[in-house]
Amino acid sequence: MRFSWLTAASKLDVNRSLLPAALDQAERYLKTRSAQPVVPNQAILDRLKNFDEPLPEYPSDPFEILSTLEIDGAAATVASTGPNYYGFVTGGTLPIALASRWISDTWDQNSALAVMSPIAAKLEGLVAQWLTELFEFPDETAVGLVSGSSVASLCALTAARDSLLERVGWSTQQRGLFGAPPLKIFAPDSVHSAIPKALRILGFGEEHIHSLATDGQGRIDPKNLPQLDAQSVLILQAGQVCSGAFDDFEQIIPAAQAAGAWVHIDGAFGLWAAASSRLRHLTRGIALADSCSVDAHKTLNVPYDSGIVLCRRPEALSRALTASASYLVTDHGRDGMMLTPEMSRRARGIELWATLKFLGRQGLSDLVEHFHHLAEQLRSLLKTSEYEILNEDGFNQVLLALKDDVATDRALALIQDSKEVWLSGATWQGKRVIRVSICNWQTEPKDITRLAAIMAKAAERAS
Ligand SMILES: Cc1ncc(COP(=O)(O)O)c(C=O)c1O
Repeated sequence: MRFSWLTAASKLDVNRSLLPAALDQAERYLKTRSAQPVVPNQAILDRLKNFDEPLPEYPSDPFEILSTLEIDGAAATVASTGPNYYGFVTGGTLPIALASRWISDTWDQNSALAVMSPIAAKLEGLVAQWLTELFEFPDETAVGLVSGSSVASLCALTAARDSLLERVGWSTQQRGLFGAPPLKIFAPDSVHSAIPKALRILGFGEEHIHSLATDGQGRIDPKNLPQLDAQSVLILQAGQVCSGAFDDFEQIIPAAQAAGAWVHIDGAFGLWAAASSRLRHLTRGIALADSCSVDAHKTLNVPYDSGIVLCRRPEALSRALTASASYLVTDHGRDGMMLTPEMSRRARGIELWATLKFLGRQGLSDLVEHFHHLAEQLRSLLKTSEYEILNEDGFNQVLLALKDDVATDRALALIQDSKEVWLSGATWQGKRVIRVSICNWQTEPKDITRLAAIMAKAAERAS
């Protein structure tokens, strides 16, 4: 018989039993998925065609839908929530982060305006305060919660652009960008592609972006800064995406700001090193920056998607991103939409608050030190292997290569084909490399021992 949601005896009853069914399914996933291959095999991928059908004419049974997700969907996920995934920079999910995310999804709060959700506004404000303290930014710092570092950088660079143009009497609000005085952007040649993308969206082309030579780790030389002025934006990195390297913020930022430049730090995963007294030397000086972007879905291990923009010039961020309309009620507290591009937004502050409260300063420090220790363990296990370790202290990143590109790519393919672990490659300073990114709370020393063994075996076969 055809299922009809309109005629179901009680929608509430369906909801009541559907949610426990989803919970059971989620628990089964968490228990079993990480014991299976990290990436799906071809037979599983072939089953994805079971999803192919035209948009159904009539409603479907929600229990059957859940069951389809379990049977044909769950196995086709990448087990990035488990301990054996080292690709890109993909954090896992702490149980409290997932549980509080479920609650916040159930509440389905719109965090655009405080009037739309007092609890979302309250927790977002608290998270903003905690993060400002954690990163030792000034109290007045504006903090926006967005989908990820790409958007966080977009927000920060919008504020930078408008603010620098404002200084020379050009209002982008009124006059837009056509005919605006030129700005110069300086970025390391190792900059993450999210930055040029954000700049393109903001109207900057390649000819506005000046690439700065970096050292073997992807860092700018503080003694060799370009000629900056009050029409310049300088991009720095707290955690280069391959090497994990940090720029020398303490040296560079005061010099750049003395020349009038706006300094933005892309700290997508590395900014969290500031939470550990042992690793804080890497981030020394970050709080001097005009703006920073950082992800919570990476090192902090909250679910996707969750990024943060911090801007120590609150008026610049809010002027760049504000919106007004007669129907918007804006006198009830923190209105998150005024610090972010979106209007309607899910209430990311809820799981951020829960996760930060769960960890506390100590737990956060333990988390980032855990990643660092595991990276150190891998380095030491592979020190006498055929791999050359290319990065120095890369926080949670280990960058390796074999004697030539062919061997490196072959080893990478062998490791990926094993499906026991997964990690990704890149081209680093003209050389093919293997990147290992350790940022999942579930990864333990025994997993790193296993990873090292798989990698060493692949190196032997590939060389
Ligand atoms: C250094 C760096 N910057 C920016 C990004 C982009 O972040 P997101 O994917 O959250 O937009 C990443 C993602 O890996 C990154 O590692």
